[in-house]
Amino acid sequence: MTAPRTRLAEMLGGYRRTALVHLATRLSLPDLLAGGPRTGTDLAALTGVREDRLHQVLRALTALGLLCQDDEERFALTEVGELLRTDHPETFHGQAVYFGGLSYRAYAGLPESLADGGIAFDHVFGTDYYDHLDRHPDLAEHYHKMIALAPGAAELIGGLFDFTPHRTIVDVGGGNGSLLAEILSLSPASRGVVFDLPLSAAAGEETLVGRGIGDRCEVVSGDFRVSVPPGGDVYILSRVLANWPDETAVKILSNCRDAMGSDSTLLVFELLMPERVREATFAVDGDINALAHFGGAVRTRPQFERLLAESGFRLDEVREVVEGTHWSLLRCTPEAAR
Ligand SMILES: C[S@@+](CC[C@H](N)C(=O)[O-])C[C@H]1O[C@@H](n2cnc3c(N)ncnc32)[C@H](O)[C@@H]1O
Repeated sequence: MTAPRTRLAEMLGGYRRTALVHLATRLSLPDLLAGGPRTGTDLAALTGVREDRLHQVLRALTALGLLCQDDEERFALTEVGELLRTDHPETFHGQAVYFGGLSYRAYAGLPESLADGGIAFDHVFGTDYYDHLDRHPDLAEHYHKMIALAPGAAELIGGLFDFTPHRTIVDVGGGNGSLLAEILSLSPASRGVVFDLPLSAAAGEETLVGRGIGDRCEVVSGDFRVSVPPGGDVYILSRVLANWPDETAVKILSNCRDAMGSDSTLLVFELLMPERVREATFAVDGDINALAHFGGAVRTRPQFERLLAESGFRLDEVREVVEGTHWSLLRCTPEAAR
């Protein structure tokens, strides 16, 4: 067991690691090293920064395990560093830009947000998260890469529910459409709607056309706090509700309820917070992230039951998507009368 002083020192140093990964990405070092090892002098010329300073950074990245140095003093990517290349099939480039930049700064607003009940992100940036992305299209692009479901997740979710008897599936806050694309590939007779903010429309179109299902699926832009497209047989809210405080989550759910017929189904894909936390989990990470960016929360099952009941839904079933991860699929039915 590591000594308490060492563990605390590691925690306090966490910001250095985040900042260094972010810096490596900002300087495009992983892409510059994609073709093979290079010297610090080469890298300084390619990045246009001071060689002496860059050398300190390269040394720190080597200590961190992102780079290694050969006998000719050249730097190369390690297996971990390779994951930061933009062309890596499982690239973390979007996450590095996002977590090390925008997200990292948002956490600085937590003390103020705890005191006044506001949102940490808004305190730091002077605007809310989605307005900020709207004003910075370059960040919006990283955002879509960053939030994309992990490889294999769409197949797992799609496999937990039989979509084939259902004609129209509406993915509310459907992002870049990757989940709906997977579902429609499993359910060839179904049609789909990806509903999201205008900033996601281009990413949605690209996925649907790329997956060859553009003719069975449309992208509709709008604000789910105002209304949700009607006429679907299955509605999906995947990784949406944690990003909102309770009153907005109830509004989004109620708008889904209003758009739905009495025999349609709502599927909610979210992390569920365990009743008691004993160790680091995705749920706790997701929770504090939701708090810092949106004033939202990862909720427990009873908290979900309350929100759903308030919005006119009954919770029929909860299935953990991958055991031990707390990622869960909640199947809900509209209550007959509201
Ligand atoms: C965490 S992402 C989840 C994306 C997708 N459902 C998934 O699981 O990959 C939240 C999504 O909600 C969308 N969103 C945020 N505010 C919205 C609003 N007011 N109306 C519609 N969509 C919104 C975002 O653009 C984003 O695509």
